[in-house]
Amino acid sequence: MDTYTLADGLQLPKIGFGTYKLNGAGGVNAMVSALNVGYRLLDTAYNYENEGAVGAAIQRSGIARQDILVSSKLPGRYQHRQDAINTIQESLYRAGLDYFDLYLIHWPNPKQGLYVEAWQALIDAQRFGLVRSIGVSNFLPEHLDKLQKETGVMPAINQVELHPYFNQQAQIDYDHAHHILTEAWSPLGRASANNVLKNPVINELADKYHKSAGQIILRWHIQRGVLPIPKSTHTSRQEENKDVFDFEISADDMAKINGLTRPDGRYSNQDPAVYEEF
Ligand SMILES: NC(=O)c1ccc[n+]([C@@H]2O[C@H](COP(=O)([O-])OP(=O)(O)OC[C@H]3O[C@@H](n4cnc5c(N)ncnc54)[C@H](OP(=O)(O)O)[C@@H]3O)[C@@H](O)[C@H]2O)c1
Repeated sequence: MDTYTLADGLQLPKIGFGTYKLNGAGGVNAMVSALNVGYRLLDTAYNYENEGAVGAAIQRSGIARQDILVSSKLPGRYQHRQDAINTIQESLYRAGLDYFDLYLIHWPNPKQGLYVEAWQALIDAQRFGLVRSIGVSNFLPEHLDKLQKETGVMPAINQVELHPYFNQQAQIDYDHAHHILTEAWSPLGRASANNVLKNPVINELADKYHKSAGQIILRWHIQRGVLPIPKSTHTSRQEENKDVFDFEISADDMAKINGLTRPDGRYSNQDPAVYEEF
């Protein structure tokens, strides 16, 4: 699969697999299926309570550890420096892994005021060899500027809510200017949650390019230089979502999709300037 190269040199496939809500044996089955279909980047988080399932899926797949990239995230309640290090170690024990390929601060939680301390812990964790690359999730330019000013180290990646109803152009421009890869969570708008797969403009383009609505959206992400991490429990959808490298959306049609964005397009109003998650 085509890859993106992070500022620190780590190569990531241009599409990954989301694992939110994939728990227990059913979750393991869905992840094994995704690995068999060809996904090589799994996105998890301490708060998804499925790092154990991720480790079990890797084992069951029979694929070599070094051929799979695992990304996890630090929860808001463990942003103190030593708590963060302990949490990463606990997550690794749960997953049965020696290292994460990527590790992110899940939310900045600006009112709590600890994200710079958490970032220092991630810098330490990278130095200790617990994680290969470090990044953040749901960080706004003001939070990223603060990391740069106080630690001199910019994240390699920023995972944010991003789909056609919330296209994040300003955040992508900021990330790009600072050599940060933008990763899209809920890249399909969580499907039923905001119905973007039923949008008439998307479906018109699906007919035109002989692709599904989901494929049009995922191709749009990739042509914008963004890394989407769609989740699906269905093998057929996992295959469909990955099959987006044999066509090109024209500039005019990209503009049509970009035109669907709206200021209140976040599907559950989680603005990182005020929203906090622990
Ligand atoms: N950093 C953060 O704060 C944050 C927040 C949210 C999510 N995430 C990450 O982002 C990942 C993806 O986001 P998400 O799970 O919220 O939403 P999503 O990937 O946008 O959408 C998942 C939903 O779409 C359905 N679906 C998938 N492919 C489809 C297709 N081709 N056609 C029709 N329906 C399809 C899935 O149903 P089935 O499973 O039934 O196929 C599921 O209900 C998560 O799993 C998680 O890893 C991160």
